[in-house]
Amino acid sequence: MTKILVTGACGQLGSELTAALRNSHGSDNVVASDIHGPVALIGEGPYEHIDVMDKSRLESVIDRYQIGIVYHLAAILSANSEKNIDLAWRLNMDGLLNVLNLARDKKLERVFWPSSIAVFGPDTQKKRTPGNSATNPTTVYGISKVAGEQWCAYFHRKFGVDVRSLRYPGLIGYKSLPGGGTKNLSVFSKKTVPCR
Ligand SMILES: NC(=O)c1ccc[n+]([C@@H]2O[C@H](COP(=O)([O-])OP(=O)(O)OC[C@H]3O[C@@H](n4cnc5c(N)ncnc54)[C@H](O)[C@@H]3O)[C@@H](O)[C@H]2O)c1
Repeated sequence: MTKILVTGACGQLGSELTAALRNSHGSDNVVASDIHGPVALIGEGPYEHIDVMDKSRLESVIDRYQIGIVYHLAAILSANSEKNIDLAWRLNMDGLLNVLNLARDKKLERVFWPSSIAVFGPDTQKKRTPGNSATNPTTVYGISKVAGEQWCAYFHRKFGVDVRSLRYPGLIGYKSLPGGGTKNLSVFSKKTVPCR
C-alpha cells in the first residue's frame, strides 16, 4: 500500500480528507502533518509537525515513512493572505515548490494540490467560464494559485511529475471550520461571493 502524506492536515479540507483517507487506506498508511495540532477530527494515526517551508524536514518525513503520494494542502487562504502578503506568497509558493522538487527527486507516485476559482479576476468570462479564460486575479492568493498551476504544469512537462489539481470554489463543510478565505465573510454579508 502506497504511503500518503497530507500537509496542512488540521485545516478545513485536510482534517476531513485525512479522516476519509485513513478510512479507505488504513490509519497507518496516512501520515498527517501541520504546524499545529493534531486535531481530533483526523482520527488515530501517525502525525508529524511539518512546516512546509522547511524542505529538509519535509524530506526526512518522506524518507522515514517511504511516502509515495502527497496531498499538499498547507496554505494561507484569501482573506488572511491580504493581511500578510509577503508571508502568503512565501508559504504558498515555497511550500509547493518544496513538494514539487521532492516529488521529482524522490520519484513520488503522485502529488495533489488544490487550486481555486480565486485565479479568476474581473475580466474573466462570467458565464460558462472556460478553463482557459483570462486569469488576472486581484488578490495575492489568486496570484499564488495562478503561479502554482503554472509550476505544476512545468514540473509535469519538464520532469514528468504526476501532479493533479482542481480549481475549487468556496467549500462548505459541517465538521471543520473555514481557515481564512473570503467565504468566512459571507456569514456577515449576503452580498459577498464565496471565492477562495
Ligand atoms: N477551503 C476552500 O474552500 C478551498 C477552496 C479552494 C482551494 N482551497 C485550497 O485547499 C487547500 C486547503 O485549504 P483549507 O481550506 O483546508 O485551508 P485551512 O486554512 O483551513 O488549512 C490550511 C492548513 O495549513 C496549515 N499551515 C499553515 N501554514 C503552514 C506551514 N507553514 N506549514 C504547514 N502547514 C501550515 C494551517 O495550520 C492549516 O491547518 C489550500 O491550498 C487552499 O488554497 C480551499
